[in-house]
Amino acid sequence: MNDITEELRDRLIAAACEARTRAYAPYSRFTVGAALLADDGRVYTGVNVENASYGLTVCAERNAVGTMAGAGGRRVLALAVCTANGVTPCGACRQVLSEFVDHAGDAPVWIVDGRGNVRDTTMATLLPDSFGPRHLT
Ligand code: THU
Repeated sequence: MNDITEELRDRLIAAACEARTRAYAPYSRFTVGAALLADDGRVYTGVNVENASYGLTVCAERNAVGTMAGAGGRRVLALAVCTANGVTPCGACRQVLSEFVDHAGDAPVWIVDGRGNVRDTTMATLLPDSFGPRHLT
């Protein structure tokens, strides 16, 4: 899976699971942590942040993207998502992540559960035939 080292992979997975401990999910109790490696070499994390007005909840993956973009990062090279049961990102998050993924080279995604089991997938697998910036030029 492209040129991400084993060490970076492990770092991303650890960062996602560590971030998850800070999720704000008092309503669903479903805590999510995400960590992404950006083209600036930094790791950005996000957690789900729920709201008493439920529909205003923001997912962990989108918060991680927002943190990266706000810091000037523009490309997601790899992503790890940690939940209790190892679920993949929701459709809205797939689209938001896709905006910042290099479509020429696929980005690895590691899905981690609460026991540390890791499932490998990629952004192209999660969101095939996607609409993106390249269609607006
Ligand atoms: N959630 C995420 O953070 N990421 C996803 O991809 C799916 C769902 C959050 C939103 C909400 O706080 C909780 O998980 C239950 O839906």
